[in-house]
Amino acid sequence: MDYQFPKGFWWGSAASGPQTEGVFEGDGKAQNIWDFWYEEKPEKFFNNVGPDKTSRFYKKYQEDIQLMKETGHNSFRTSIQWSRLIPDPETGVVNPKAVEFYNHVIDGLLENGIEPFFNLYHFDMPMTMQEKGGWLNREVVDQYVFYAKTCFELFGDRVKKWFTHNEPIVPVEGGYLYGWHYPDEINLKHGVQVAYHEALASAKAIEVYHSMNFLDGEIGIVLNLTPTYPRDEQNKADVEAARLVDGLFNRSFLDPAVKGHFPEDIIKWVKENDLMPITTPEDLKTIAENTIDLLGVNYYQPRRVKAKETPVEIAGNSILPEDFYDVYDMPGKKMNPYRGWEIYEKGIYDTLMNLKENYGNIRCYISENGMGVEGEERFVNADGMIENDYRIEFVTDHLKWVHQAIQEGSQVQGYHMWTCMDNWSWLNAYKNRYGFIAVDLEQEGKRTIKKSGYWFKELTKNNGFN
Ligand code: BG6
Repeated sequence: MDYQFPKGFWWGSAASGPQTEGVFEGDGKAQNIWDFWYEEKPEKFFNNVGPDKTSRFYKKYQEDIQLMKETGHNSFRTSIQWSRLIPDPETGVVNPKAVEFYNHVIDGLLENGIEPFFNLYHFDMPMTMQEKGGWLNREVVDQYVFYAKTCFELFGDRVKKWFTHNEPIVPVEGGYLYGWHYPDEINLKHGVQVAYHEALASAKAIEVYHSMNFLDGEIGIVLNLTPTYPRDEQNKADVEAARLVDGLFNRSFLDPAVKGHFPEDIIKWVKENDLMPITTPEDLKTIAENTIDLLGVNYYQPRRVKAKETPVEIAGNSILPEDFYDVYDMPGKKMNPYRGWEIYEKGIYDTLMNLKENYGNIRCYISENGMGVEGEERFVNADGMIENDYRIEFVTDHLKWVHQAIQEGSQVQGYHMWTCMDNWSWLNAYKNRYGFIAVDLEQEGKRTIKKSGYWFKELTKNNGFN
C-alpha cells in the first residue's frame, strides 16, 4: 500500500442524535430548540423540512449498524439527545425508553465490532433550558453537568470515547451572530458569555468523568478547526487579521480545552471591545485543571482573510467579528461545485501540524471531514446506486495529507467521514447530502449504499490505499 495507516486506526463516520433519530410520539422525548423553532418558523428550514423528518435512526438503528459494518466501519460517533434522556432537566428524571434505546445502540455497535464514540452536545439545547437562557445562563452549566454524569453512569461501562461538545463555536456563531440557530440574536457580548459557559461546562464534565476512575475510557471535545490563511504572508496587517480570526474561531476553544486557559490576545481583544463575560476564579481553576484526553478535529474548508479595507464604526452589541477583517476571495481556489465551499486538502495537514507543534502533539482524530452535494440524485446509475466519485476523490486527497502528517509525527488516530446515512442538517435540512449511504425520504427512508460506501469498505479492509 502506498498509503498505509497505523494499526488500530479508527475508520468510520460521524452523525448526531438530533439529525438522525427523529421524534416519535410516545417515546418521551421533550422539545429541543430545533423542534421548537420548526414549530414557530418552518419557513426558515430548507423546503420546510424539519427535525421530525430525519433518517429515523430511532427505528432503524439495527439496519443502520449492519450497513456501517457493510461499509467497513470500526467506529462511529453519534450524540445522545439531552432532551430525550432527561426530558425535564428540572426534575432530572431519566426517560427509561431513552436508556433502552441508547443501550441497544451501544450493544449493537459493540456486537458488530464498531467502537461507539459518544458526544454529549450537538447543538440541541432542551427547550426548558433555553427558556432559562440556554448557555447564557450559568445554571444551565450545572444542569448539563448532571446530564453528563448521568450519561457516564448509564453508558460509561461500554462507551470508552466521550466528547463534551461538537463544534461549540457554532451555537455562538449561529445563535448570536448570524441567525442559523435559535435564539437568532445579534449580540456578540452574549455570544462570548455563551462560549465561556460552554468551555466551562466541558471542563466540568471532564472533571466528573475523570473522578469516576472506574471508567477506563477517555474524554475530549470535537472542534471545527478552520485553518486561517492571510491574503499575503508578508503583509503585517493581513497576518494580524488572520491571527485574530484564528483566535476568535479556533483558539477560543482549542486553548482552554488543551492548555487550560483562554488565549491572551483574545482576552485582550474581548476586554478592549467591552465584551468580557462574567467569570469566577473557581471556574478558571476548573478550566485550568480539566483539559482533554483526546481531540476530535472537524475539517471542511479553510478561511482566507485580509486586513479590513474600509474600517467600520464599532457599535455596542451589534459588533461582529467581520468588523475587524475582510474575507479574501482567493483567485483560482478550488471549489466544491455542488456545495460552494472551498476544497483545500492541505488544510487538514496544516491543522494537524499546528496541533503537533503548538499543542503538545495532543492525541487526536479527524472527527468530521466530508463533501456536501446538492442534487446528488442526478448521479444515480441504472442500478440505482449513486456514483459519487467526487466524494471518493475528496476523501482520498484529504487522507493523503493525513498520512503525510502521520509520517511527520502527528498523533492522529482515526478518520471519520461526515456522514454515514444522508442526514437532516439544521436549517439546510436535506439540501446537502454527505453520506456513504443514500436515504430516500419518499420511501420511508430506504437506504442504498453509494459507490463511496463500497470504496470505504475496501480502504478500511486494507487499512490504506494505493
Ligand atoms: C458539521 C456539523 O459542521 O457540518 C453537522 O457538525 C452538519 O452537524 C455538517 O450537519 C454539514 O453542514 P451543512 O450545512 O453543509 O449541511
